[in-house]
Amino acid sequence: MTYAVNPAVSRIEAPPIMEAQGWVRPGLRNRKLLNLCQAVPSWSCAEELNDEVARLAHKPGISLYTDIYGIPELRAAIAAHFSADYQGEVEAHQVCVTAGCNQAFAAALMAITSPGDNVVVPVPYFFNHTMWLGMLGLEARYIPAFGPASAEPDPQDAARLIDARTRAIVLCSPNNPTGAIYSPAAIQGFFELARSRGIALVMDETYKDFRPGSAPAHGLFATPGWEDAFIHLYSFSKAYSMTGYRVGAITASRRVLAEIEKIMDCLAICTSHLSQRAALFALTSLETWKQGKLAMMRNRLESLRSAFARDDLRYELVSSGALFAYVKHPFTDEPAKQVAMRLAGEHDLLCLPGSMFGPGQERYLRIAFANAEASDMPTLAARLVESQKER
Ligand SMILES: Cc1ncc(COP(=O)(O)O)c(C=O)c1O
Repeated sequence: MTYAVNPAVSRIEAPPIMEAQGWVRPGLRNRKLLNLCQAVPSWSCAEELNDEVARLAHKPGISLYTDIYGIPELRAAIAAHFSADYQGEVEAHQVCVTAGCNQAFAAALMAITSPGDNVVVPVPYFFNHTMWLGMLGLEARYIPAFGPASAEPDPQDAARLIDARTRAIVLCSPNNPTGAIYSPAAIQGFFELARSRGIALVMDETYKDFRPGSAPAHGLFATPGWEDAFIHLYSFSKAYSMTGYRVGAITASRRVLAEIEKIMDCLAICTSHLSQRAALFALTSLETWKQGKLAMMRNRLESLRSAFARDDLRYELVSSGALFAYVKHPFTDEPAKQVAMRLAGEHDLLCLPGSMFGPGQERYLRIAFANAEASDMPTLAARLVESQKER
């Protein structure tokens, strides 16, 4: 006899990216696999960052714990960056540094919910969000993330689902998996709804830097009393290509951060000290480097959109932005997973089926194109066309 495992965890599907990687059959056609299954930047982190980390490794105290909330300099730098980027008001005491945005999400949701509560989530969703909700014993209540006439979710759909056990609405913009960038008006609408119903609007803004232009992504940080209803989550992983350093942040009221402090103490005690210093360097010294990479991604996005304009391509680009394209495949009778497995096994194109991002997504595929050069986009379209032929 052996011990039991937690059914709230064992019920959850295995990590999707690992599963998809098993669909590849390399070496069949002697051509490069287009691996577009994960939002991992193809570029290395900045050379200056490597030099700084080498220098930091010798800094006295770098091997030690930091404050649970993170080093004061990084908290202050994040607050200053958000205040400028969102043209709002964020203070250092409202920021908690975390080991990546996934940990930020985990800690934030644990702090504001109890088992049996529910959370409103647009579908398609980022699967780690709903995996975590399930592990916490929470019910996810779904609203459409986009409709025939709109690329963003509607606060009115959420309003209908809120009841006494609803604790939060979770949004992700720019969105993973659709790439959609929600308008400031829609985001404000969700915030007003959350505030009026005494729940939290939790926004995962991992991809905020990839939005086009420099206008604030939304006006929430400029809204007096934002901390009554808004919890902001950020990641250093993508814009600075620092996925392995594991640095993110929660920005929220001092009241909820006091609860998050207890959770962080048990989860990690603190984010890696070296990684925090690396993130501080990135935030304060790599703006020009980052802008160069963001411009490169915008160029890749344009190439992808042009590639989808091919007349003979029956896959439809439903939505695109940041690092993602959400595509409707043409096979009405074939489930998304089967299409994705066929693309991986027979056409050297690895992407994820919509079914990994929630119910009702069988007609869709997610293409995460940070790993593809602009010059790869015509090849991407050609392989999709190739997959149409044998059907
Ligand atoms: C929406 C979203 N949130 C969070 C994460 C995880 O970010 P981090 O590496 O900071 O944990 C990802 C990674 O793909 C993501 O797409």
